[in-house]
Amino acid sequence: MAKDGSEQGSGTMGINTRLAHSGNNPHDYFGFVNPPIVHASTVLFPNASVMAARSQKYTYGTRGTPTTDALAHAIDALEGSAGTIAVPSGLAAVTVPLLAFVSAGDHLLIVDSVYHPTRNFADTMLKRLGVEVEYYAPNIGAGIATLIKPNTKVVFTESPASNTFEVQDIPAIAKAAHAAGAIVMMDNTWATPLYFRPLDHGVDISIHAATKYPAGHSDVLLGTVSANEACWGQLYESFCTLGCCAGPDDVYQVLRGLRTMGVRLDRHQRSALAIASWLEGEEGVARVLHPALPSHPDHDLWKRDFRGSSGIFSIVLAGGGQHEQHAFLDALRIFGLGYSWGGYESLAVPVWLGDRVVAKGPYEGPLIRLQIGLEDVDDLKADIRSGLAAAARAG
Ligand SMILES: Cc1ncc(COP(=O)(O)O)c(C=O)c1O
Repeated sequence: MAKDGSEQGSGTMGINTRLAHSGNNPHDYFGFVNPPIVHASTVLFPNASVMAARSQKYTYGTRGTPTTDALAHAIDALEGSAGTIAVPSGLAAVTVPLLAFVSAGDHLLIVDSVYHPTRNFADTMLKRLGVEVEYYAPNIGAGIATLIKPNTKVVFTESPASNTFEVQDIPAIAKAAHAAGAIVMMDNTWATPLYFRPLDHGVDISIHAATKYPAGHSDVLLGTVSANEACWGQLYESFCTLGCCAGPDDVYQVLRGLRTMGVRLDRHQRSALAIASWLEGEEGVARVLHPALPSHPDHDLWKRDFRGSSGIFSIVLAGGGQHEQHAFLDALRIFGLGYSWGGYESLAVPVWLGDRVVAKGPYEGPLIRLQIGLEDVDDLKADIRSGLAAAARAG
């Protein structure tokens, strides 16, 4: 970090130093540490010729502002990307790049363990628009080559898997996709760019629900999409065409969240791992689905590619069904029952695998996904113990 606040040479610095200083240059705004929140539709031009040529940095609110640029630059520095767009939700961060890169008659490969609303978008809107959608097993690796057709445009990945946490061999998938002229997108929300940098592993477009760890407080919806040089132009123009820009207050909140994301994630990681490994020895738990545990079938792949693990994983109860699953959830007092994750508080949800076509298990019993928040580990363990006892009583 240079004295003037620029990011020159910051690539060699530690992650928390970079998170504290990336994005904006305080000296652009009279030394104020944080960038302004620019509420903007209209941007004025100094004269007609500049207006006609649109030859100034900002031209209209939908196309970018100093606030969105600050976040985009911070994310680019983390992702190693050529450009980043900010959109109003994590789901929009999935739909906008897919709309940008697939057309009628194209074939789209999506991992079967994908976030359910991604599947819903593909199965409804994309199919209606004439896109051929096919699902593949999360452990397919280089075998993806056998599913690629001449019209395959995009291979969509998400790793680890939503709810079941299989790890994909992203470099092998990217190699096969690129050999056939397809691009690779990855929903990297679980790891954040701190623990996995998709573009370093051959991914072309990295997607984040910034709603989760970047925002970190369960009070903001936002998505970011970061592209390499080859895909950036098409992504940015499609984003402008769709008018799918995020509001400045939400963008600012996510930039604010990034400053503490490293320390928060470190705590989420440690607590989740402590609880996950403790749960492996608890009665009533058949399996813990957490890729950073040595017992996880994809642990070696996770170790090869990831720099850390975040705060969500699932447990498989030792037998039973929905009755036991609900008994566990209803006994919890600290864990809230709520979707989303990545905030400071612990959450639990029942896992439903009814939409899957290949990655269905088998599992020994019902699955429960836990998001481990920033609370004290002993309190969380006590809460989970009550859940397990209630599930055992229900059996
Ligand atoms: C993996 C993943 N991607 C995308 C999203 C969508 O994020 P948002 O809730 O901001 O739409 C979620 C939300 O749970 C998610 O878990």
